[in-house]
Amino acid sequence: MSLKLSIYLDGISDMFMKRGQTDLIHELTLGTEAYNGKVGRWWKQLSNNRPHAYAYSNIANDIHSFLQNNPKLVIDYACGSGNLLVPLLNRFPECRFTGIDGSAFMLELAKKRLKRLGTNSSQWVELIRTELPDFTLPQGKADVIVFCFPQILWGSTDQQRYYENGYRNEEDAAVAQFLAASRNPNVEDITVADDVQMWLDSLLRGKVVSRNLHGLLKKGGICIRVEYAKTERAKLAELEQYRLAFEEGSLETSMNGRKAEKLFNFISSTYFRSKVMEDVYHQTRDGTDRKGGYSITLLETM
Ligand SMILES: C[S@@+](CC[C@H](N)C(=O)[O-])C[C@H]1O[C@@H](n2cnc3c(N)ncnc32)[C@H](O)[C@@H]1O
Repeated sequence: MSLKLSIYLDGISDMFMKRGQTDLIHELTLGTEAYNGKVGRWWKQLSNNRPHAYAYSNIANDIHSFLQNNPKLVIDYACGSGNLLVPLLNRFPECRFTGIDGSAFMLELAKKRLKRLGTNSSQWVELIRTELPDFTLPQGKADVIVFCFPQILWGSTDQQRYYENGYRNEEDAAVAQFLAASRNPNVEDITVADDVQMWLDSLLRGKVVSRNLHGLLKKGGICIRVEYAKTERAKLAELEQYRLAFEEGSLETSMNGRKAEKLFNFISSTYFRSKVMEDVYHQTRDGTDRKGGYSITLLETM
């Protein structure tokens, strides 16, 4: 299954806390502030290790070889400390970048990193602090948007923002309900697979984030999602593929006679084995989350 951390975290923190895993999981229940404290320090340290450095370089190379025309504007959505921004800047010297994140701590690290690159970087990169998803950001401007190792946390004032931006879309809600309630035949690695409400909420929130990604792109723009994964997309159980496609807005198939709103055309997904998968293990402490890697999925706006 694809292992976006958010799916694990939404609604299951209580369960982990009962097991005594109160450290990172507890911090994550604090919402968007988490990355200003202990979780931010955890991510800073972890994302600077060798497997991450290799992964970010590989991701930047992959993006570079896919994009034949030089993009004019690339947005790094939830850019954190700029782990991917920096290698992208090196590969697209003529491009402008916008890094968006909710954490002041993370953005300060990104700023320092860009400063070390040289005085010119501030001319090419704009950093914006805001809580995501944010539908007030300028729409339809970016050629490319990257969303790397996502973990969009729920802020205190978020419910209304999600509700106003598609969370209650009738067709999506019906499809998500069907996908949340369906059973996965390969459940041995999914401790929380039976929690329908958790899956429903996670799918619908993920779809709102995808709407935000879609809105920031020009028509024909490219969305690049880098997500923790245990195997290649084509090898996932059918239900997992449908859930993934629903959330990213590329689901074509009708579910139970209902059709989800389509935002993107799926282009490709490539899987890489990597020790970055241990990021997931750090949060879940589930031994099955130690092996895997990440997938790079390319989507095009409709
Ligand atoms: C796992 S880190 C990944 C950061 C970056 N993409 C990378 O690969 O290094 C998740 C990032 O999402 C940001 N984030 C989480 N929830 C957010 C929200 N609701 N609004 C804005 N940023 C958020 C955090 O501050 C953090 O920088």
